[in-house]
Amino acid sequence: MKVTVVGAGNVGATCADVLAYREVVNEVVLVDIKEGLAEGKALDIWEKSPINLYDTRTVGSTNDYSKTAGSDVVVITSGIPRKPGMTRDDLISTNAGIVKSVTENIVAHSPDAIIIIVSNPLDVMTYQAHLTSKHDRMRVMGMAGILDTARYRSFLAEAINVSPKDIQAVLMGGHGDTMVPLPRYTTVGGIPVTELIEADRLDAIIERTKKGGGELVKLMGTSAWYAPGAAAAQMVEAIVKDQKRVFPVCMELDGEYGIHNTYLGVPVILGKGGIEKIIELDLNAEEKAMLEVSRGHVRDVMDVLDNMN
Ligand code: NAI
Ligand code: 2OP
Repeated sequence: MKVTVVGAGNVGATCADVLAYREVVNEVVLVDIKEGLAEGKALDIWEKSPINLYDTRTVGSTNDYSKTAGSDVVVITSGIPRKPGMTRDDLISTNAGIVKSVTENIVAHSPDAIIIIVSNPLDVMTYQAHLTSKHDRMRVMGMAGILDTARYRSFLAEAINVSPKDIQAVLMGGHGDTMVPLPRYTTVGGIPVTELIEADRLDAIIERTKKGGGELVKLMGTSAWYAPGAAAAQMVEAIVKDQKRVFPVCMELDGEYGIHNTYLGVPVILGKGGIEKIIELDLNAEEKAMLEVSRGHVRDVMDVLDNMN
């Protein structure tokens, strides 16, 4: 199995490293436009193999897509990240062009690859990659839900003082402040979270989760990479190992949840075919209203992309 990660920056290199040391695939190809960067990071990851004990080959390439040929899965992280004061949507004009040209190159060399988008604004970059690749919608998806859910789970674990391993949760909607938390689907070792934490503390955790990306941008001057890189690698692993994992993933909705032509995070089953099933939860009125706000926001940014294209 071969995976390409485009963008050898913070998120891309972290994703490649996780794929290598967990031996998810035999070969990871890292591509970047910046001369020598991908080669250097791939070499560094390979030089770590005798220490961390893995044999995944890691190859770097400066914009030479022939090295990516025949990839089973491609993760696209190329593009600029946020600086303090910027929203994810401010990145659209730069990143749409990058995602378009990268997707063209990927499809030319790996026509059957399943594509995972990480670049922001996530939902609309997934739309861009889908438009360019013309793949079936079940084979082009965006990573955000695993990250947002992980942030929520980690905050809950800290507040309740339990292992993050025991917290199961799902969030839906766009990757941004309009994401839709679903506390009634959150459990701690099978126990509804509402039995273990007061409502006001849970509300505060939900609010922190919605702004979780911004919290890190404020601290570091750029956006996060450890959790995002690991989240993208977890999606790759579910696909290449045909694990049938249940994750929130961004994809084009075509009637699910009563929504058409919009890219939003929804729970799906991920396996070797990509998205193998979309899970439709029976949302209550309040959750439906939040999803509608999120849909409207993503649709507005999709319209910006349509006008640019
Ligand atoms: P970074 O700046 O560290 O890395 C981006 C890399 O992309 C750079 O090395 C750059 O040279 C490369 N690049 C730019 N144009 C390229 C092209 N045409 N072809 C190949 N490589 C190209 O940025 P970082 O932190 O890795 O973030 C990457 C993207 O992921 C950003 O748009 C960021 O907002 C997004 N992101 C999304 C998350 C999500 O949950 N979906 C989470 C974290 C980041
Ligand atoms: C994040 O949520 C910037 O989207 C990125 O960290």
